[in-house]
Amino acid sequence: VSPGPGRPILVASNRGPVTFSRSEDGSLAPRRGAGGLVTALTSALQVTGGRWVASAMSEGDRERAAESGGRFEVDAGGARYDLRLLDPGADVFDAYYNRISNRILWFCHHYLWDVPRYPRFGADTAAAWDGYRAVNALFAEALAEEAESLGTAPAILVQDYHLCLVPALVRGRGAAGPIAHFSHSPFAGPDYLRVLPDEIRTGILEGMLGADLVGFQAAAWADNFLAACGSLPGAEPDRERRTVRWQGRNVRVGVFPISIDADALRRETAAPEVAARREALATSLGEMRLILRADRMELSKNVIRGFLAYERLLLDTPEWRGRVRFLAHLYPSRADIPEYRAYAQDCEREAERINAALREPEWEPITLSVKDDFQEALSAYGRYDVLLVNPVFDGMNLVAKEGPVVNDRDGVLVLSRNAGAHDELAAHALVVNPFDVGETAEALHSALSMPADERARRAKGLREVATANPPVEWVRRQLEDLEEAIAR
Ligand code: F6P
Repeated sequence: VSPGPGRPILVASNRGPVTFSRSEDGSLAPRRGAGGLVTALTSALQVTGGRWVASAMSEGDRERAAESGGRFEVDAGGARYDLRLLDPGADVFDAYYNRISNRILWFCHHYLWDVPRYPRFGADTAAAWDGYRAVNALFAEALAEEAESLGTAPAILVQDYHLCLVPALVRGRGAAGPIAHFSHSPFAGPDYLRVLPDEIRTGILEGMLGADLVGFQAAAWADNFLAACGSLPGAEPDRERRTVRWQGRNVRVGVFPISIDADALRRETAAPEVAARREALATSLGEMRLILRADRMELSKNVIRGFLAYERLLLDTPEWRGRVRFLAHLYPSRADIPEYRAYAQDCEREAERINAALREPEWEPITLSVKDDFQEALSAYGRYDVLLVNPVFDGMNLVAKEGPVVNDRDGVLVLSRNAGAHDELAAHALVVNPFDVGETAEALHSALSMPADERARRAKGLREVATANPPVEWVRRQLEDLEEAIAR
C-alpha cells in the first residue's frame, strides 16, 4: 500500500522508533520500539522517504545524539531512514517529559487526579512549562531545518501531547508543507481540561490549531477537542463538519483509529522461544482457566479495580476457586514519577492481599509479573481464556487488538467502554464501565462461563476487526486527509 501522494514525510515524536544501548563489542546498537505508531510510520518512511525527529531518552541515545549533530541513518528491523535525536539537557527534559507531559497533560487527558487534593499548580508549574515550551521550540527548529533540507515540501506528522506547541511553532517558522498533529491519548472533556492553568490550556489548543489536520484515535476525543475549542477566544469550531476556523484557516479534525501489524505479530509469536514459553505456561496451567491482562504499569490501566473485580468473582462464585488464575503482566514505565512508583506498590500490595486471603495449598489466585518482557506477554496471549482490558480512559489500547490475533482458544475480551478500541470492538466484547467493580466481576464470570459457540463467534469478530486496518493504512488515510485539508 502506498502511504501517500509522493511527498516525503517528516515525523516528530517524543519517543523515537529506536533506542540505543552499548552492545558487548562497545558499539551503540539500535533496538526497535514496539507498537502501532513505530510500525506504521517506519513502513511509511520506507515508501515516501523522509526523516524522524525524536528525543534522546536513554543514556545510549544521548551519546548517539552527541555524535554527528544527532543526525544519522538508522538500519533496524529491516527498515532504513534518517533519524535526528534531540537532547535538551537533563533538567529541561525532566520539566518537559516528567513534569508537564506525564504528570500534568497525561493526568488531565486520562482523568487521573484525585481532584479534591490534586493538582496544586504554582511557581514550579510555571517553571516546568518553560521547559515544555523550550523542548517544543527545539523540535520546531529541527523540523524546519529538516523540511528545508529535504528539498520537496514534506508532510510534517507531529505525534502526541508532548509536542502540542510544535504545529504552531513550525508554521510560525514558515516551514513548507502541510502539518498534522495526532494524539494517541484521549483528549479530556472541556470541564476537566479547565483544571489546567489557563496558559497551559490555551497554549496546547493554540499550538495544535497550528496544524492543518488534528487527528485522534476515537470520535469521543475529537469531539472533546472541538468542545474545548469552543472556549478558546477567536476559534470557531463546527462540530458537525469537524473543522475549526482559526486565524483565517480551516483546521480539519479527524478520527483515525490505529491498528496492529498482524503478520509481524504472528511471526514474532511463531518464534521458537515464544512457542517454548507458551508450552511451559500451558503445562503449568493444565486445565486451569487463565484471565490475562498485559499493560504498562500505568495508572490509567486500572489494575487495582481489575484485581478487586477478580476478588469479587472468587467471593461471589467460589466454584471458580482453584479453577482459574489471573496473570497480570505489567511492564515498568515512567519510574521517575512518584505517582507511578506509588501505584506500582499499591498494585503489588493488592495482589498480595488477595493472594493471602484466598490462596489454597495448590493454588495461587494472582500471578503478578512486573518486567519488560514482550515475549512473556506474547506467550500468554496465546493461552488466555479471558483478556481483561479495563482502562479508566485509553486513547486506543492495542492489547485489545493484539490478544485476539494471537489467541487460538477463542478467548473472550472484557473491554472498558472508555478505551478508544471500544468503538471498533464493542460488538464482539463484553463491555464494562471500568469504575464498576461489580459489573466487571460479572463480566469475568460471563466470560468464563460463555458457551463455546458464542466464544468462537465473538473471537472471529475480534480477529476480523483487528486485522482489517493495517498500520500503513492509518498513515495513508491521514496523508490523504492532509492533502485535502490544504487543497481547500
Ligand atoms: O500512546 C501514548 C504514549 O504516551 C506514547 O506517546 C508513548 O510512546 C507511550 O504512550 C509510552 O509512554 P512513554 O514513551 O512515556 O514510555
